[in-house]
Amino acid sequence: MIRTLGTCYYPEQWDESLWQSDAKSMVELGLTWVRINEFAWAKIEPRPGEFNFLWLDRIIAILGKQNLKVVLGTPTAAPPRWIIDKHPDMLIVGEDGRKRSHGSRRHYCFSHKGYAKECERIVEILAERYGGNPFVSAWQIDNEFGCHDTTLSYSDSALTAFQCWLRKQYSSKYHNNDGPIGALNNAWGNVFWSMEYQSFSEISLPNNTVTEPNPAHIFAFRKFSSQQVINFNKRQVEIIRRFSDAPITHNFMGKTTDFNHFEVGRDLDFSSWDSYPLGFLADRIDTDERLKKEFARQGDPDFQAFHHDLYRSVGNGRWWVMEQQPGPVNWAPYNPNPMHGMLKLWTWEAFAHGAETVSYFRWRQVPFGQEQMHSGLHLQDGTKSNAYYEVQDVANELKKTKHYEQISSKIAIIFDYGSSAAWDIQPHGKNLNYFNLIFDFYKSLRKLGQSIDIIPQDHRNFEKYKIIFGPGLMIMCEKLKSRLSKFNGQVFLGPRTSTRDLNLNTTIPLPPNLPGFDANIILTETFRRDSPIQLEKGGNFCYFREHFDGKFEIIEKTKSGDPAIIRGGNFNYIAGWPDQTVLNRILKNVFNEEKMDFICLPEGVRIRETLRERFWFNYSSKQKNVGEKILEPCSVFRECI
Ligand code: GAL
Repeated sequence: MIRTLGTCYYPEQWDESLWQSDAKSMVELGLTWVRINEFAWAKIEPRPGEFNFLWLDRIIAILGKQNLKVVLGTPTAAPPRWIIDKHPDMLIVGEDGRKRSHGSRRHYCFSHKGYAKECERIVEILAERYGGNPFVSAWQIDNEFGCHDTTLSYSDSALTAFQCWLRKQYSSKYHNNDGPIGALNNAWGNVFWSMEYQSFSEISLPNNTVTEPNPAHIFAFRKFSSQQVINFNKRQVEIIRRFSDAPITHNFMGKTTDFNHFEVGRDLDFSSWDSYPLGFLADRIDTDERLKKEFARQGDPDFQAFHHDLYRSVGNGRWWVMEQQPGPVNWAPYNPNPMHGMLKLWTWEAFAHGAETVSYFRWRQVPFGQEQMHSGLHLQDGTKSNAYYEVQDVANELKKTKHYEQISSKIAIIFDYGSSAAWDIQPHGKNLNYFNLIFDFYKSLRKLGQSIDIIPQDHRNFEKYKIIFGPGLMIMCEKLKSRLSKFNGQVFLGPRTSTRDLNLNTTIPLPPNLPGFDANIILTETFRRDSPIQLEKGGNFCYFREHFDGKFEIIEKTKSGDPAIIRGGNFNYIAGWPDQTVLNRILKNVFNEEKMDFICLPEGVRIRETLRERFWFNYSSKQKNVGEKILEPCSVFRECI
């Protein structure tokens, strides 16, 4: 594999006289890739059916002649004004029932048939025109599905499509005396609160109810909405493949769990994601205030790595960072400048986790529009910014270390979008979020120096792993249960693993109902952040806890003597949300049992290996020592192994 760099470029926002010199300086900087066009629909089709491709032809040629490779974006994330006039009901509708308006982006509903046709049309025209263009070396579909909370739409189109989707689900798979609608009533438990339907056309979307809607209803709507994203992406991929052999990607987002990314990834050639470490720490990471402050200019030490590992799996081993934060962004509650060295660190961290390309957002800061306050590799007038010089350093270092091979990890965490939805729908208390639970496990593993794979439920190749974690996997398919029971290593499940069926109903026999594991949850409780359950050996269960009955080995107890960690066969079950002290102890114990190496890293220090390199990343603003090694603040240290 070869490591390359790139940038996101918006030729339509600049005078054409700059294009040639921009392309030249991209090459001088050592860039290989330039992504364009993902928001330029109004430029290429200013009025319905009236096209202007000449500017796009010219910029692609200019970039190509400089040996730069183009990633051509399909422009469907920013439908122009005239499309809304043509299809006024294509706008996304929020849970509050309010229709969003034109004037920013991502304002479409995934279920609108007219908009779907417009997308197919523009993608086909683009693919036909540029599919054979030697300079178009990759495609990006749309931009950040789900960003700005746009997966779920409560529009009339969504309603019709949802009813139709349900009808199909039940007419093909279920038969009983009451027909398909009876089967749905039965599956959803609609006898509760008189919610039975006589026909599919009576079913509404699960919003604007007095109190919470039936969880089965919301869950079905979440599955349907995820499927709409998968279909939307797939339609574009299929069109492009008819005209082009270039690989196709989509740029996913951070901590976005409302559609199944693994499924979208199966239709792509590689995955990519947009990494904004400081923005994410400020706007979506639930960590304590001390750490937020300490790492405000560096980013959370695990959040980027988590997504690198997740998207490596979504891309089936091939992935990029499509957008890398270069300096302050415009959209978070605080937008500080990164510490000097962080851009380099983030880039190398992505490479260490197997990225093929890191591409910086954006080439030049724009003096108008919503993102004026978002930095780039250049200021608005073309002056090179601090970020430029850090990228230049990386480009020089890359000359010596272009080639790499990824390693395979010994540890896997199962990540499941369906279970994430299940936690959202019935959290059973405050602070209960699936991503955060998984992230706690991931963090503790990384603090002990581990490399981790993040895998879907239907992952088949378990042989290379020694330990598999499935915390919070509320919905666990039977095949996974049986594969795990035959897995030749230790499995860590719980809390809340395998507690619901595919309609979000509690399983009977009582959960977790795992092969060879005689243990049942007889009570589940949640509690305040300041009233955790103490464990006998130290540390706490926070927020959530399960009480067990059955015949199992007790590995740890709560202070009051209840089973806290139990074991049967190769299954270990953690009966609560473990804090870092508990997790640290559990992990050290299992590493000792399995004779696996680990290292207790200082705060902010993380490691990751490729086949021949070990990288040390110091996210901290202080110097850190590990054995003989001195790690400078905000730096990356690479050694050959
Ligand atoms: C991303 C998006 C880009 C740009 C960037 C600003 O989420 O894909 O188009 O808006 O954020 O940080």
